[in-house]
Amino acid sequence: MARDASTAPMRPNGGGAGPRHVAVIMDGNGRWAQQRGRPRLFGHHAGARRVREIVEACPGLGVDYLTIFAFSTENWKRTQTEVAGLMSLFRRYIFKEMQAFVREGVRVRFIGDRLRLDAKLRALMDEVEALTGHNTRMHLTIALNYGGRDEVARATKRLARDVRDGKLDPETVDEETLPRYLDTCVLPDPDLVIRTSGEARISNFLLWQSAYSEYEFTEILWPDFTREIFAGMVAGYAGRERRFGAVSA
Ligand code: IPE
Ligand code: IPE
Ligand code: MG
Repeated sequence: MARDASTAPMRPNGGGAGPRHVAVIMDGNGRWAQQRGRPRLFGHHAGARRVREIVEACPGLGVDYLTIFAFSTENWKRTQTEVAGLMSLFRRYIFKEMQAFVREGVRVRFIGDRLRLDAKLRALMDEVEALTGHNTRMHLTIALNYGGRDEVARATKRLARDVRDGKLDPETVDEETLPRYLDTCVLPDPDLVIRTSGEARISNFLLWQSAYSEYEFTEILWPDFTREIFAGMVAGYAGRERRFGAVSA
């Protein structure tokens, strides 16, 4: 998709076009639990339950792609208890939801570096990707051990190997080349990125892909994030004008 001035996908959303791809930084689980005097993992479990509600809301809102940030390459810095609890939650979540994804036509993909994840979790990730591989109703992408810088570094490594092996002429490299090597190569760029919990930062999420995304930041903690709040943000997007560097019509 070219983005030069002549062909820029100028998209004044006043016409009511909704976001086709929404990406969510699901933040605030720990604080939600702390507010209730409970361990952080209690918040992560409550957060996981919200994912189902938001996935279910997508088709009715015209959202074809939902990408959720579940665990960052920096989240390994947390205590061993929290990391192990999260990994166990991911295994249980994928196992539990697998049949629902198949039934509901949800195609599941993972982005991030799988190599650091344990074999059991990786096997479940492969299984749900294979089982849902023909689904087309909606696309759910789970960012697990994902970091935008790490993704660009891994992509660059693959690109460099192709140059070394004579498969890619470095003189042809332009801004359409790198995305083909990113984990997200089959996904459109996110139109709208939502972050909960009041933090106004990107925390290494979809660095390349969100260059022209619209952002919504909310104080609401992820376990309190309802389908109604989500629908409101999706509707709000339709009123925004995306100029992609051009001038308003
Ligand atoms: C987001 O919630 C989930 C993960 C990062 C895994 P947090 O665990 O970051 O919750 P807060 O930000 O500490 O409240
Ligand atoms: C971002 O949240 C990662 C996920 C939601 C998985 P963090 O809680 O890790 O981000 P920081 O540390 O506040 O920037
Ligand atoms: Mg956080």
